[in-house]
This record gives sequence, C-alpha cells and structure tokens, in this order.
Amino acid sequence: MIKRFSLLSLVIIAVACQPEQPKRYQGMVADSAMVVCAHPVASRIGIDIMRKGGNAVDAAVAVQLALTVAFPEAGNIGGGGFMILREPTGKSVALDFREKAPSRAFRDMYLDSTGNVIDKLSTKGALASGVPGSIDGMIEMHTRYGRLPWKDLVQPAVDLALKGIALTQREADNLNHAQLKLKKYNTVTPHYLLNEWRAGDTLKWTELGHTFERIRDEGRKGFYEGKTADDIVAEMKRSNGIITHDDLKNYHSQWVEPISASYKGYTVISMPPPSSGGITLIQLLKSIEPYPVEKWGHNSAKTIHLYTEAERRSFADRAVHLGDPRFYDIPTSTLTSESYITERMSTFNPDKATRSTDVREGNVMPEHTETTHISIVDKDGMAVSVTTTLNDWFGNYVVVAGSGFFLNNEMDDFSMKPGVPNSYGVTGGLKNEIQPGKTMLSSMTPTIVTKNDSLFMVVGSPGGPRIMTAVFQTIVNVIDFKLGMQEAVDAKRIHSQWLPDAIFPEYGAISKRDSIRLSDMGHSVKTLNDLDKGLTFIGRVDGILVLPNRKLEAGADGKRGDDSAAGY
Ligand code: DON
Repeated sequence: MIKRFSLLSLVIIAVACQPEQPKRYQGMVADSAMVVCAHPVASRIGIDIMRKGGNAVDAAVAVQLALTVAFPEAGNIGGGGFMILREPTGKSVALDFREKAPSRAFRDMYLDSTGNVIDKLSTKGALASGVPGSIDGMIEMHTRYGRLPWKDLVQPAVDLALKGIALTQREADNLNHAQLKLKKYNTVTPHYLLNEWRAGDTLKWTELGHTFERIRDEGRKGFYEGKTADDIVAEMKRSNGIITHDDLKNYHSQWVEPISASYKGYTVISMPPPSSGGITLIQLLKSIEPYPVEKWGHNSAKTIHLYTEAERRSFADRAVHLGDPRFYDIPTSTLTSESYITERMSTFNPDKATRSTDVREGNVMPEHTETTHISIVDKDGMAVSVTTTLNDWFGNYVVVAGSGFFLNNEMDDFSMKPGVPNSYGVTGGLKNEIQPGKTMLSSMTPTIVTKNDSLFMVVGSPGGPRIMTAVFQTIVNVIDFKLGMQEAVDAKRIHSQWLPDAIFPEYGAISKRDSIRLSDMGHSVKTLNDLDKGLTFIGRVDGILVLPNRKLEAGADGKRGDDSAAGY
C-alpha cells in the first residue's frame, strides 16, 4: 500500500512538473474556402467575393480595402505590404508593395544639427510617410491573378465607407485613445473621427468612400494621380512632408522570388528582403531544428532559452546584413544556409545565456547575385498570405484631407542613425540608412508552409519585430507541439530580439518556476506592460491549416484582437 502510494505520488509529481501544455480544441473548420483577418466584417466580405466566383486574390483585394474602414489602425490604402501567393499548381510568387522613401528623402533627415534624432519626426506627422504602395499592389495582384472585375472588389469598401460601420468595443477604445493625437497631428481636423466612441456607434468615412469610388472607376490613376494625389501633395505642403506628384506617379510594386527552406520535412515559403521576415524566420527555424523541443515542453525554460539564443543571433544579423536588395547586396543564401546557421549556433550553451553584447552579426562573404495580416485559401487551393501596414497604430495620425485615409509612418523603419533603435527598439546600420527611392527594412513575414508539395499552412502577423517570433512560434506550435491552428494561435508567446538583452513573455506565458530557471541561466525576464503600444501582446496571428481530411481549420487571433474567420 505504501509502495503503491509512493509510486502514485511520484507520477503525480512528475506530471505536475511538466510544463503546462495548451488544451486541445479546434478553430472554425470549413470545407473549401476560408478568410482569416483582423475584423469579422472584412472576413465576411472576402468570403462573399469567393462565393461569387472570385479566387483568393480577389478576396485579398476586397479584404485589404475593407480593412481600411473596418480596422483603420492598420488596414490601409496609405501604407504598403507584402504578399506570398501559392498557385494551385504549386508555384509560389511574392509581391513587394512596401512603401519607398520619397525622392527628396536623405540620410540625416531626422537628425538635428548636432546629429541627434529629433523625437517623433519619423513617427508622427507628414514627414514620417513613405510613398504608399497598397493600391498599386492590389492592382498588380488583380491584373496577374484576379478573376472578378476590379470594380466588384472595390465596391464593398465603397459601401462600407459610405454607409458606415458599427464599432466593436476594441475599435471604439482605440479611436478614443487616438483623439488627442488626431487633433495634434492634423492641419485640417478630421471632425468625423472626433467623438467619445462607444461599441455599436456607426462611423461613416464619406471622403474615403469617394476615394474608393475614384479607385474603383480609374484604377491606379484614382490614387496616384488626380484628386487623391493632389490631396496627398497638398497635405504634404501643409504639414512639412516631402512626397511629390512624381513620387506617387513613379511608385511601382515589384514581383520578387520568395525564399524558402525545409524544416522537419515541411517547406517554409516566405518574404525575401526588403523584409527581414523570411530570412529571420528561416534562421530561427533552422537554429532550433536539431533540438527536441517537443520533449522539452511548450514554453518551458529549456525551450525558451533555445528560442532566445536563436533570436539573439538572428536579430544581430538583421541589424547589420539586411536592407533593400535594390541598394545593397544582401547575402540571403549564406544567411539561410545550413552551414552558416550551424556555425552561428555552435556557441549555444544549453545551460547558460549568452550576453547580447558578446554576440555580433555573423561573418558573411559578399554574394553576387500596426500592421495586419490576411490569410486566405480558395476552393481551388490557391493560397494568399498578405501582411500590410501603416507601421504604428493609425500610421502618422495624418488623415489626408479631402481623401479621408491615414498615411503611414513607415520612414521610422529606416535606421535614423546607426545603432539608434527605432520605435520598435530595433537597430540598423548602413544597409538600412535612408536613400531616395529605397524601401525601408521590414519585419513583415507573410508565410506559406507546404508538406509533400501540398498546401499545409498560411500564416502571418502584425507586431513589428515580434512578427517574426510570433510566426516562428506558431509554426513550431503546429509542427513540433502538434497543436491545431487555433490552439497554436492562442498559445501564449514570448519574444526577444538581441537588443535589448531581455526575454519578454506575454502575461502567463512562463511559469514562475521557469522564469526563475531562466534568470538562473543568466536571462533577464521582463513582462510586457506598455499598453500604449499594444505591447502586452506579441503579434496577432491569423492562420489557416489544411487538416488531414483536406478541410481548412482557422486560427483567428480573437483573444488578442477582433480577428475572425469566415469560411464555407
Ligand atoms: O514593416 C515593419 O516591420 C513594421 N512597419 C511593422 C509594424 C507593425 O507590425 C505594427 N503592428 N502592430
């Protein structure tokens, strides 16, 4: 009896000592087609487009435009983004519709006469904007892949803007939080946005509705020329900005080759530079591939220590080696090669934290050669992964008077000055310094994962540098920890990025015991609590998983946002 009791207590103790595993449940499951994005109204618009015979690209265009109204913090026509698309044939392509520096931009434009960064100049007001790429990107995608007429994809956004949208509690809170800045950074006050908003209130975007009508009727010219362009340039003149008519006319998004790598028998397809997303994601996955994290446990001290050491090395590389490949050679193949990553991780000590000050970028030989995410799969298996952004919540807070949309503050993603962190705390150097026409380095990581040449997962997230660690953990949650899509999205996340030298867990992500173990290894563990920047959460991941029976499971980040899935 005593023996049986002690055996039982041993089992109980052993179980109690296991790191907590997330519970088993599923997200929305659909037979054929699915949209997952930041707002239920936009998800429904996307799925309606597919019911009417549109494909995943048609749906992506309609969702992107609708999010400008439904989720104005990040949904946009005044910003830019990236898309990874996988055709039903298995071919993958990438579209770069990220903003570019205006022609009058120059390296030290945010520094004062003594060489110090001028506070907020790269984040608030018209000077913070890069030349917007979203509309050109939508038109490129549609011209190459769309099935329904362009007008049918823009009309839902026209209707939504003119009829108005009922605010969710979260949207009302975010708008209320923005009131002072909306007054401060606009030369023509956007009165229709000023209010004490409550959930259920209807917000109409009349000027934006008419801008959508011009885009619907005139396509590219409806944004980059005519009244919309005049309004943007007038806004610049009133508010000390530098975007010109020529900058707008000359903006063109670009098709680029996605980058890919294998991870435990899966193929990960993601965004190449000028996003750092794909390279960093691949470096993180390849760095942890040799280790049995599934045995060590989800968010256990051992697993988090490994993630952090991989992140320290990858983010050090990001700061020095990455930038716009049209201006500097980016050693993509070296940085993502097995041998380079193995060498980088050769100093990994399973028991002890490295100090970030002791970690520098790796040696490479020159080679020649508030954001929101939308995941969509259509009935033919075409998959679209789009991440798009204004950078910060509501971009630079400037609403283009007469045209009614927010402008981005993407210039802050350039390195203002070597070694000085931007608003997301990431540093950069020479390769990411400001030059006219150059694209600022991004962390956006729209990603598609395949297995045996079949679609497996579509995934992405907002969150600045946290995007890469959020997407990384979501993929590992599914592949290594065998979680479903919704479980993988819901699971608590941790983040680190080389500098500052600390681990940032979401509230409840790490047990007290594991936190102590991490401190004992030499890590500094800090809980996220900067509400103003939404930093209590790491990412807002929206994904779709193809189940073994070929049905689609949604992972909508409805706990961290209003994110929601629609499917049929
Ligand atoms: O491109 C980037 O890396 C940043 N502009 C993304 C900012 C972002 O994700 C904000 N979202 N919460």
